[in-house]
Amino acid sequence: MTDTIQKVAWKSASNIALVKYWGKHSEQIPMNPSISITLENANTQTSIQYNKSNGSDVKVDFLFEGNRKPEFGQKIERFIARIAKDYPLLNEFSYIIESSNSFPHSTGIASSASSMSALAMNLYSILREHGAIASEDLSIASSMSRLGSGSACRSVYPGFAVWGNSEIVDGSHDEYAVEVNEKIHEEFKNTHDSILIVDSAKKSVSSTEGHALMAGHSFRESRIKQSHDNLKVLMQALEGGDWHKFTEIVELEALTLHALMMSSVPSYILLHPNTLKVIELIREFRNATSTAMAFTLDAGPNIHLLYPDYNAGAVKSFINDALIQYCEERKVLHDKAGQGPEKLI
Ligand code: PMV
Repeated sequence: MTDTIQKVAWKSASNIALVKYWGKHSEQIPMNPSISITLENANTQTSIQYNKSNGSDVKVDFLFEGNRKPEFGQKIERFIARIAKDYPLLNEFSYIIESSNSFPHSTGIASSASSMSALAMNLYSILREHGAIASEDLSIASSMSRLGSGSACRSVYPGFAVWGNSEIVDGSHDEYAVEVNEKIHEEFKNTHDSILIVDSAKKSVSSTEGHALMAGHSFRESRIKQSHDNLKVLMQALEGGDWHKFTEIVELEALTLHALMMSSVPSYILLHPNTLKVIELIREFRNATSTAMAFTLDAGPNIHLLYPDYNAGAVKSFINDALIQYCEERKVLHDKAGQGPEKLI
């Protein structure tokens, strides 16, 4: 191994869950299975320059959008040290890591899935290039991403990915996600996601705290059962090209996620009055026009409006005519199902 500086870089996008991961135990092991669509435009680009280090500890210098961020650098040091337990080669380097997001800071979009998957893809590449991972196996990159942020493990694949053990998805696993694109009907292949930014303020309760509240939640057991049932019906809808069934399950999942927050002890609410207004307008428009579209929510007040490619014109007009006025500074980010991480260097 040389001690010259080497470089890798990856771009990786965020994902939007259709059946939600909510609650975990042990080392980021999910309480229930989830499925998501990896997006394209909401992404993180991360590069790593690395060379042989003299010390024995992992050393990271981290810059976000050109600014040094020592507190994140320490977090990433701990993350790499955790992965180095399985791949000790990573202990042999020091790292300069530079990262930037495609989406503006003040959008309330969760960046952990894109940033942790971009970082994990870089580490995976380093291990591949130095022979520590013998052959291509994205489940290893997925498992590494999971240790950074649970939902990030689904972002290492294009399109649709399932994370968490489920009897209806062959090969599904609690430690990594698997892609299920070959099962997906043409109807859903180019699904769009327009993200309506209702409120960009930082969340009052983090996802980490929210997951923890599921441990003693009164609905825990029924939620686990419901997520398995919902995944089963949703997979049938995705395989059969059934937007009606898809909508029923996706909206139920979004509202269940927030119902679980509201019924946690202590209870909390992340929805904004305009979230409810926008949901009401979406349902009214759908009832009146039968346009195929479904909303979902992340752990926050912003609406993700999902629709097929052939409805893009009609739904974008509807957004501009009826919904954009309820968005903060009229902010909407148009995204769609993406191709998965891209190696830049
Ligand atoms: O990956 P985390 O710990 O940020 O959890 C995110 C959980 C949700 O986004 C609310 C749902 C999901 O499955 O992505």
